[in-house]
Amino acid sequence: MSRVVTLGCCVAVTTSLSAQPIMEGDRSVPVEARNGMVVTSHYLATEEALKVLKAGGNAVDAAVTAAFALAVTQPRSGNIGGGGFMLVSSETKGEVKAIDYREKAPAAATRDMYLNDQGEVDQKLSRFSHKAAGVPGTVAGLALALEKYGTISLAEALAPAIKLAEEGFVVPPRFSEGIRDRAVLLGQFESSRKVFFKPDGTFYEPGDLFVQKDLAATLRRVAEQGVKGFYEGKTADLIVAEMQKGGGLITHEDLKNYQPEIREPVHGTYRGYDVYSMSPPSSGGTHVVQILNILEGYPLGESGLNSAKTIHLMAEAMKRAYADRSKYLGDTDFVDVPLKGLTSKAYAEELRASIDPARATPSVEIRPGNPSPYESNETTHFSIVDKYGNAVSNTYTINFSYGSHIVVDGAGFLLNNEMDDFSAKPGVPNAYGLIGGEANKIEPNKRMLSSMSPTIVMKDGKNFIVTGSPGGSRIITTTLQVLLNVIDHHLNIQAAVNAPRVHHQWLPDEIRIEQGISPDTIALLEGMGHTVEQKAAMGAIQSIMIGEEGVFYGGADPRRSTSSAQGY
Ligand code: DON
Repeated sequence: MSRVVTLGCCVAVTTSLSAQPIMEGDRSVPVEARNGMVVTSHYLATEEALKVLKAGGNAVDAAVTAAFALAVTQPRSGNIGGGGFMLVSSETKGEVKAIDYREKAPAAATRDMYLNDQGEVDQKLSRFSHKAAGVPGTVAGLALALEKYGTISLAEALAPAIKLAEEGFVVPPRFSEGIRDRAVLLGQFESSRKVFFKPDGTFYEPGDLFVQKDLAATLRRVAEQGVKGFYEGKTADLIVAEMQKGGGLITHEDLKNYQPEIREPVHGTYRGYDVYSMSPPSSGGTHVVQILNILEGYPLGESGLNSAKTIHLMAEAMKRAYADRSKYLGDTDFVDVPLKGLTSKAYAEELRASIDPARATPSVEIRPGNPSPYESNETTHFSIVDKYGNAVSNTYTINFSYGSHIVVDGAGFLLNNEMDDFSAKPGVPNAYGLIGGEANKIEPNKRMLSSMSPTIVMKDGKNFIVTGSPGGSRIITTTLQVLLNVIDHHLNIQAAVNAPRVHHQWLPDEIRIEQGISPDTIALLEGMGHTVEQKAAMGAIQSIMIGEEGVFYGGADPRRSTSSAQGY
């Protein structure tokens, strides 16, 4: 297939319809560079990471620098009190590896720890209490990334973050809005008030300087002592003291025992591209690949971006994948997950056969399938590529915006509330409406199931798309759509990021859409039996595409006002 492209006023050429980095007349233009590209959700983190690339550092050096800088400049999701996943692709080694630094349940966690006397889930306990916090993994994960794949020291990667915390940074509007939105929850905890409000109790306004001395001291301990500066000694003492104040479970032993893991990412193929994405304990990669496998059987390019037909097929594929998620996905250190089956082309074919091209299958009629063989609203993502053929796709989180909303007194950072990602009770949805069962029940030292989907797509051994997003349950479908928008719909990476998104997660039985899907499309979908709900924007996907000629194209998500793509 080909299409005619008009260049300038009057020259028309015919190009083959493959992924288009950028077309004359595109309305969404990506940032373009040849030596390195950084796309994060905060311009200060982007700037610091770019300096590292310019100084000769690699993508992992820049990634760790960005992650620490985000922990200072975007405390609602950038963190040292949470956890995440990093995919590292090296074209020269011909390998893609995944670093799992997801939080773990403390050793004293129990299956029913969030159930009240009536056997119901106490959401305050699982979300906004000291007991909501899992053992943080970020510092250990970032240190491991540097040690294995980086070239600079931990102290060097921490230096910009320490400076930003010590000397402060100028507050952008999004920062003040975030605190205002969560003022009541943050205000409950004295330690959080001390950090996020001025001494007289008023808000930091845009243009004010935001200084974090305690956080600077914590980061400095890590710079001086390595991971021990967080998991042992003074920082550990402060975390445990905070736990004791509020009935939390994390102990010195839990902290000392925390270890990140290097895992094999999930691998699949889609229309000739190799797709690598996060393996368990995230469900993300498994379901990105599963949904792509189902959709590979349809000519989505022909049915068109966000047409009723395309959205119908996407929603049907999504429903089936999320139904499987509810039953099969959990931490593979504890449960067997039928990964091969879930990501196989044969199983996708079986699921595709159950899709009616003209009618919605009601979610009540969809049950988790039988994949075989059976064998053993804030997070933040950034994507970075360097001139050495490395790509990093990193998503990390404290779960909600501001996590548990509890700052570790004296240490200056927020604790996650990731324990809510476990299935507190079979069949009862978590904060994202996700249902889980046995595979994701709470067990001591287990990692809670995630949806985070840092993804790297390769073509013939070369990095092609680096992407990932926040958005809770919507992460998987947000990531999926950027891939489809580039591969099937031939959008440039910025247009692929900008395009309105849709989402179905099996339960509730609705297609959630963003603003920008036309009323006649919605009417057609309703005519097929779908319920369509327009709600808030989904995700904040920070993406890079690498053109055939080796040019880097950065697409930052306009859904976050501080997002920034910069290259050199
Ligand atoms: O790991 C997960 O899937 C969730 N804790 C991520 C939370 C999230 O993305 C919130 N953002 N909007």
